[in-house]
Amino acid sequence: MTWSPYYVGDGRPREVDLGDPPPWRSFPRRAHHEQFQPPPGLVEAVNAALTLCRPLLVTGAPGSGKSTVIEQVAAELRLGTVLRWHITSRSTLADALYRYDALGRIHAQRLQGAAGSDDIAPFLQMGPLGTALLPGKRPRALLVDEIDKSDLDLPSDLLYVLERGEFEVPELARYRDDVVDVREWQSERRHPVMKGRIRCDTFPFIVMTSNGERDFPAAFLRRCIRYSMPMPTLESLHRIVAAHLAVEEGQSGPVDALIEGFVARLAAGESLAVDQLLNAVHVLTGTQAPSGEAARSVTELILRELSGA
Ligand SMILES: Nc1ncnc2c1ncn2[C@@H]1O[C@H](COP(=O)(O)OP(=O)(O)O)[C@@H](O)[C@H]1O
Ligand SMILES: [Mg+2]
Repeated sequence: MTWSPYYVGDGRPREVDLGDPPPWRSFPRRAHHEQFQPPPGLVEAVNAALTLCRPLLVTGAPGSGKSTVIEQVAAELRLGTVLRWHITSRSTLADALYRYDALGRIHAQRLQGAAGSDDIAPFLQMGPLGTALLPGKRPRALLVDEIDKSDLDLPSDLLYVLERGEFEVPELARYRDDVVDVREWQSERRHPVMKGRIRCDTFPFIVMTSNGERDFPAAFLRRCIRYSMPMPTLESLHRIVAAHLAVEEGQSGPVDALIEGFVARLAAGESLAVDQLLNAVHVLTGTQAPSGEAARSVTELILRELSGA
């Protein structure tokens, strides 16, 4: 028996109703701050980072909720929209501070000729880190996601900027006007910057995440508060599933079995992510849920181990 609620494989066009998406896959994206269930010790770690004005380095397996921590903190403490900096091997500190479109400005100067205003402001935009360091009444929330994927020098360069809490935009420092209104990251909001110097007055709340693919130098670690996502337990997974999905009375049996199987596989050393479990629960308790042998094979499909292909 195959599970074929939508696609059947006969190539005949038809209209199908795909039903409601899982709540965490509805678009436009909604924040997950109310669903997140902080694991033991995380609340203390966040409060320590807030008290000490230090970044929080969260390490853990893929799908353990690392990137979601900051959404809850930012929502609860009204820190505004989370500034996200997703790190790859090509990420540079300079890009995260600000971006200057020199070519765009030259083109504009050519078009306008000598009579043009030659304003620099439209060609400058703060990056996520630069925006987090702009002065403001409330600290901003900055996610430095997957910092272990970065180029080797980036973590130390980043902490150097965070120690000082300020940086210079040389293009503005030598500009004719002392004050220039610069645009925030992914926003139309503008901030006056004096002589190209950006200096924070409330240290941002920063979460850096790592899948643990790299060891960081001691000089880096000592400047962070570190937290490792613990292995989920039966109890924590029940809470997480309940927070994301309304499981009906009649379906608690299969859901319990899924959670128990999930915990047993984790205990045996397999690598599985919490969102795989959520996916399995969504499919197996949905209106188009497979049954019998199909249910087993679909569960296997969704809960495939993460290490290896
Ligand atoms: N403790 C938790 N409480 C609620 N949901 C969680 C928890 N841990 C993980 N999830 C869910 O699992 C998914 C993956 O989390 P994410 O933060 O992207 O993981 P990571 O960044 O560690 O790879 C998210 O949809 C999140 O809502
Ligand atoms: Mg993540």
